[in-house]
Amino acid sequence: MEQIETTKTAALDAIANANGLDELDAVRVQYMGRKGLIPDLMKHLKTIPNEEKRAYGQRVNDLKTAFQEALDARKQELEAAAEETVTAAFDLTLPGEWRGVGSKHPITQLTERAIRIFQTLGFTVADGPDIETVFNNFDALNHPPGHPARDVKDTFYLDDPDTLLRTHTSPVQVRYMLSHPPPIRIIAPGRCYRRDTPDATHSANFHQIEGLYVAEKVSLADLKGDLSHFAREAMGPNTKVRFRPHFFPFTEPSVEVDFSCHVCGGKGCRVCKNSGWIEIAGAGMVDPNVFKAVGYDPDKVTGYAFGMGIERIAMILFGITDIRHLYENDARYLAQF
Ligand code: PHE
Repeated sequence: MEQIETTKTAALDAIANANGLDELDAVRVQYMGRKGLIPDLMKHLKTIPNEEKRAYGQRVNDLKTAFQEALDARKQELEAAAEETVTAAFDLTLPGEWRGVGSKHPITQLTERAIRIFQTLGFTVADGPDIETVFNNFDALNHPPGHPARDVKDTFYLDDPDTLLRTHTSPVQVRYMLSHPPPIRIIAPGRCYRRDTPDATHSANFHQIEGLYVAEKVSLADLKGDLSHFAREAMGPNTKVRFRPHFFPFTEPSVEVDFSCHVCGGKGCRVCKNSGWIEIAGAGMVDPNVFKAVGYDPDKVTGYAFGMGIERIAMILFGITDIRHLYENDARYLAQF
């Protein structure tokens, strides 16, 4: 009985002196844990003479109750104190900290806009990897062995000399035609890589949107009509399109596509270098050799293809004067668009 009393005094003292919730929990374990002092007292019960067992048990139970009550009360006290410390550390009257809302990168915005426009013309989106085979990037696209674009000065080859970082999105044409029979109508936005020295209008890494439409009797007029529609939707209803003869190994005839300058409306200004026109895309009718390389019959189908530079459109549309601004990832700059 005496031991119960001593334990009780010590336990209540320990609770009162516990400074902090961790200390208090240590006291709880010391007294009430599985090997704690109070369960220990209960174990003595079997050594107590029968006539005293009842009183002894009662006292231990009273101790348990008293201990638990004191513990709960102290816990509440300590919790309240902890909360007060936290509150004191904050000045709730200070204005909040502004967390900027993210914005879409101009390249992403334009890509999404272009996809939406071409989807209304029945195009679906196709995709290909940045790491390509020489076959898909050059051979199947009718580049003869010595073609300058293949040179290591212009193209990033990987350790395996049959692989490279694609120099344009045109290899997606090859992939898609190899795996789908005609007719097809796809656009393929993506990242491209060339060994260009970076300056205001060049970057070793840029984006294109490839377009490919293959069916019976597709003509250059379809190409002009669809690109004109795109130009008006993307750049404004008065935008005009012009074709200039050009050469690409994988299209015949080939053209370069200019849009009328959306800044001056074609009169001539700094953005269009006084020409009134801005070069936007390369395009043309798919060369029969490309159809042969992918197993299409050039006597049955014809098709047009184009590749647009997304950065070019972004720079013109948003008035961005240096392509490098698009890659420096200054959120203050990019959030303007
Ligand atoms: N792939 C060409 C380039 O990057 C563009 C192009 C695409 C030309 C499709 C014709 C047809 O310059």
